[in-house]
Amino acid sequence: MAELSVSEGARLIAAGELLAFPTETVYGLGADASSDSAVAKIFAAKGRPADHPLIVHVSDRQAALHFAAEIPDFAQRLIDAFWPGPLTIIVPRKAGVAAASAGGQDSIGLRCPSHPLARELLAECAKLGVHGISAPSANKFGKVSPTTAAHVKAEFGDAVPVLDGGACDVGIESTIIDCTRGKPVLLRPGVLTPSQLEAAMGLPLTDPVRAELAEAPAPRASGTLESHYAPAAPLRLMDAKALQTALDLLGSDGKNIAIYARSPLQPKSHQIILRRMPADALATAQQLFAVLREFDGHQVKLIWVETVPADVAWDGVRDRLQRAAA
Ligand code: TXA
Ligand code: MG
Repeated sequence: MAELSVSEGARLIAAGELLAFPTETVYGLGADASSDSAVAKIFAAKGRPADHPLIVHVSDRQAALHFAAEIPDFAQRLIDAFWPGPLTIIVPRKAGVAAASAGGQDSIGLRCPSHPLARELLAECAKLGVHGISAPSANKFGKVSPTTAAHVKAEFGDAVPVLDGGACDVGIESTIIDCTRGKPVLLRPGVLTPSQLEAAMGLPLTDPVRAELAEAPAPRASGTLESHYAPAAPLRLMDAKALQTALDLLGSDGKNIAIYARSPLQPKSHQIILRRMPADALATAQQLFAVLREFDGHQVKLIWVETVPADVAWDGVRDRLQRAAA
């Protein structure tokens, strides 16, 4: 099949169809944010509960204002510092727009992606009267997010056309900051560190647990469910010592096990799949989901992953691994 062009993709979106497209974080499963019937197709294809809100992708601040009732000062400072890029802001939603995408909530998640194909797609869509593209990660609900067009094909087959933009640079989903509660609340860590975010805003971040104790319950967010991003095989997190001990106990019998670790390990069995985790958090984020999918491809029965360093640079990767292990 000939490769889909950006303008063909934009026509699909404008016609109310689904299109998977690359962003710098992960591939998204997109539809016209303003069309409730198009957005319903996303929920159906993913098997995602209809009350879990989606992120609307926009080309710039102007397009964001089509959906936002208000952009608080500290949210504006985040936009100035990190758009286009891997940051989603939750802001009050303008009445009557993108209700299905928002899962019925009175807020809306907005993100301006930096991937060149995503930017071209948003520009082409704008020419056709589409103000924003709603897109969750292009995977079935609760599964590992896709970071290549082949991953999307593996999830949806030919049912969903895919714009191929190569492997995603960032590799884990955007940082999400709730800007509806008068102070910034970190809903999902990504590759932006708390100090980068706080420096841009000139304000401290609040973590969702503390915010919730203080006031109303947080909005629903699939990415904040305890179990999410799960590979098919059960995933366990262990430190290097526990990993080596487990390998020693297995001896030469070990099989159907895949390991992702920074520390050098010595399995006695040649049937154990061993992948070296990079020493760098950003490099690990970039390959994490592809590695988990590769392990599933080998149909292993267990995935063991070395716990990551306590440093804040690893917050995004640690968050995904803990949910994958839950
Ligand atoms: O990097 C990303 O953010 C990727 C790419 C495709 O842009 N998208 C992504 O979407 O991860 P998704 O749907 O898999 O995760 C979106 C998260 C969910 O946890 C969702 O519930 C939350 O954002 N979210 C969206 N709108 C929200 C809102 N109004 N209030 C609270 N949470 C919201
Ligand atoms: Mg997702």
